[in-house]
Amino acid sequence: MEINQTLNEYDEVDSWAAMTLVYKSALKKINTKLEILNDEFQQVHRYNPIEHIKSRLKSPESIVKKLRKNGHESTIENMVNYVNDIAGIRIICSFTNDIYRIADMLSDQEDIKVIEVKDYIKNPKPSGYKSFHMLVTTPVYLSDRIVETKIEIQIRTVAMDFWASLEHKINYKFEGNIPESFKNELVECANMVSDLDERMLRLNDEVQKLGNTNLSY
Ligand code: GTP
Ligand code: MG
Repeated sequence: MEINQTLNEYDEVDSWAAMTLVYKSALKKINTKLEILNDEFQQVHRYNPIEHIKSRLKSPESIVKKLRKNGHESTIENMVNYVNDIAGIRIICSFTNDIYRIADMLSDQEDIKVIEVKDYIKNPKPSGYKSFHMLVTTPVYLSDRIVETKIEIQIRTVAMDFWASLEHKINYKFEGNIPESFKNELVECANMVSDLDERMLRLNDEVQKLGNTNLSY
């Protein structure tokens, strides 16, 4: 009995490690794809659509919490099937049109399959949250098998990201129950973010039209 229990624990640890390896590899793969696109853009258009990229693996605690919230047992199988954001990549762009450009460039790649798109830029959340979300899968090649692996990709502008991180902090502080006055203020800030993004995009377009040979940074 004792030995069996120990074996089981080892099995779990083993499959947890195997699962983590697959998701980590998928993140590496997408990160490389993004670097290549950004480098190519720099070479061809003399400009970087991507400001920066953050990627993360969801912590075991958060994975278990999410499963529990949705009434699932904490098994590796359930994690893989029901938790879509174990591997997450956030891409921060300067301008709104870069978001769709990057989303299209990724979707067009043969080894990326788009499972779901949530466009919270066209349809912001009631909180004011804006971002473009794409759930994709990509194959990870292991020694003896190929694993189609899910990755949640969030693409947003610097301004949207600024808003989202503050809102996240406030949400955390109030444990999800943000007082009405702060909520309203956040919605107003979200509207200002949209205005700012629009104006910056327009300004950039006008400058580009002038021919930007003297602009360097
Ligand atoms: P989750 O259970 O939170 O994953 O929601 P979901 O499966 O319906 O996915 P959704 O696309 O709505 O949100 C996924 C992720 O987007 C979240 O984990 C957050 O990182 C981010 N997000 C969604 N809504 C908000 C919001 O109102 N504020 C902030 N700051 N982030 C949000
Ligand atoms: Mg999520």
